[in-house]
Amino acid sequence: MAELYLKPLPIPVGVGMAAEVGDMIKPRVVILGGCGFIGRNLVQYLIENDLVSTVRVVDKVPPQTAWLNEKHQRLFNIPKVQFKSANLISPASCQSALSVEEGGGFDYVINCACETKPGQTDPVYREGILKLSLNCAVEAAKLNVKRFVEVSSGHMCSSNKVPHKEDGKIEPWTYLAKFKRQVEEELHNIAGLNFTIVRPAIVYGIGDRHGLVPRLVIGAVYKHLGEMMKLLWGKDLKMNTIHVTDLCRAIWHLALRDDTLSQIYNVVDKGDTTQGMISNLVSEIFNINHDYWSSINLSLCKLDMASLVDEVNDKHLGPWAEACTQSGVENTPLTPYIDQELLYNKHLYMDPSKLESTGFSWLVLQISRDKLQEPWASV
Ligand SMILES: NC(=O)c1ccc[n+]([C@@H]2O[C@H](COP(=O)([O-])OP(=O)(O)OC[C@H]3O[C@@H](n4cnc5c(N)ncnc54)[C@H](O)[C@@H]3O)[C@@H](O)[C@H]2O)c1
Repeated sequence: MAELYLKPLPIPVGVGMAAEVGDMIKPRVVILGGCGFIGRNLVQYLIENDLVSTVRVVDKVPPQTAWLNEKHQRLFNIPKVQFKSANLISPASCQSALSVEEGGGFDYVINCACETKPGQTDPVYREGILKLSLNCAVEAAKLNVKRFVEVSSGHMCSSNKVPHKEDGKIEPWTYLAKFKRQVEEELHNIAGLNFTIVRPAIVYGIGDRHGLVPRLVIGAVYKHLGEMMKLLWGKDLKMNTIHVTDLCRAIWHLALRDDTLSQIYNVVDKGDTTQGMISNLVSEIFNINHDYWSSINLSLCKLDMASLVDEVNDKHLGPWAEACTQSGVENTPLTPYIDQELLYNKHLYMDPSKLESTGFSWLVLQISRDKLQEPWASV
């Protein structure tokens, strides 16, 4: 288990746009942030299903150091996958990233690039989310692409009463969502931009680091400690999910349709995932028991959430480092650390009906043990 995503293998980067003759009528696509979790899975989806003539992956992190598994690394050796290094916060770099080379311009630009590291300051998010997305959208408008797809955030409202619809009350409850909301609003003001916005629930699958994988790592820590796993807020906390393959399918499905122009879509599975469902699966995978903090403890947490989160993270980080050392793991991107804002008593409860009304159908209707532990099996 502890050898997950351990050694990034050196691979040559695929360059060249050589589209075969039969490919010429297929679309040419740019995936911004294509070395990240969602981006790499989108590259895989488009290539394996032979949907495109060219994919240009733009990222500030090269594929060699992005902790790709071997399957994802091989994708970057395929001639029709081209990697371009760019920091998209810089307008000049963004312009160069989307520059047209031999073979013509691009049809679709999908923005998966974003400052996703938790616990950053407002200015860091303003640049890494708002500025980045708007730079890319402005360039996409200049290129007159058929569609610019902005991967936004599902954290737009917290209620456990009714699932949140796209046009429901907007109260972003993470820093990231706050800036993504500004992006959503600004896209309407960019002249000539053909765009669609997707708001994913918690995304899980191969390559996940920040979604459900920290919960698996925490399960591994409690297994290592031989203790009961303790969680906040109870089993009914809504933690709706979407498998990364279905997210990639939904992005492409929505990008191709005319009636999705200027629209926002929740991308969430039909399983109405809760913390209880996830914790049961994690407990099953690691053969551990779990329980929730008592309401007395919870009322104390509300008084000093920051200290409580520090305490919880400290409890997990030490044993995780110890377990890694014992297994000979010197470096790993995986961590049990969960940021404070993701530990609030906030529900992620999203309505999938607008997406379904476009004719989309899910391959993974709800989370399961097999799907949750896919990242474990992929290395
Ligand atoms: N993973 C989830 O559970 C989830 C849920 C909802 C929404 N989202 C959104 O989906 C998008 C992609 O998320 P992810 O999980 O793949 O994140 P990720 O961190 O794995 O990938 C983001 C990629 O963007 C790149 N990037 C960041 N800043 C850049 C810059 N300035 N220039 C160029 N590249 C840059 C990073 O190097 C990384 O490869 C984000 O907007 C995120 O908010 C993710």
